Amino acid sequence: MPGYLASVYLHQLAALIWVGGMLFLTLVLVPVALRLEPPRRGALLADVGRRFRWVGWACIIVLAATGLLLLGRRGITPADIFTGAFLAEPRGVVMLSKLVIFAAMVALSILHDFVLGPQVTRALQAAPQRAAGLRRRTSWLARANLALGLAVLVLSALLVRG
Ligand code: HEM
Repeated sequence: MPGYLASVYLHQLAALIWVGGMLFLTLVLVPVALRLEPPRRGALLADVGRRFRWVGWACIIVLAATGLLLLGRRGITPADIFTGAFLAEPRGVVMLSKLVIFAAMVALSILHDFVLGPQVTRALQAAPQRAAGLRRRTSWLARANLALGLAVLVLSALLVRG
């Protein structure tokens, strides 16, 4: 039981840090950064982005590891998820939807953190006027990831209590 509770706690903590961190960036940090002059704005967003990248990836690893433990506790293996019997139950459909959205979030995070984010930083240093379009696209990608994170929270509550 203590092991199970610790897994639930770590799982919820990682979810709140990841999704809460994305909400903080979108609702607080980015609007404040946009009021700064371009050189300071670029440096702040690049520094915060680099720092939050490692926090985000630590959360992804903890969510996946504790999520698999929690599934195991329910007697479900990863292979079971794709079987007809599992998907015949509403909870199975909720779990598969949660996993598909989680996989999409990981893919968007790779694109944001390792492709578009570094491109924006380089563009802001080389030609700030031309970086605006790229910065907007990257920012929309981050918002899409936040929306998916909020959807996963709804599915998680349904999974436990639905
Ligand atoms: C490999 C990925 C994941 C797996 C296998 C997984 C699996 C699970 C399972 C089995 C539970 C039920 C725990 C229990 O017995 O009470 C759960 C709960 C939960 N999960 Fe996940 N999860 C994953 C990813 C995520 C992600 C990405 C988030 C959020 C961004 C998340 C947020 C939550 C929350 C908040 C709960 C608690 C819900 C409640 O008590 O109302 N999970 N997860």
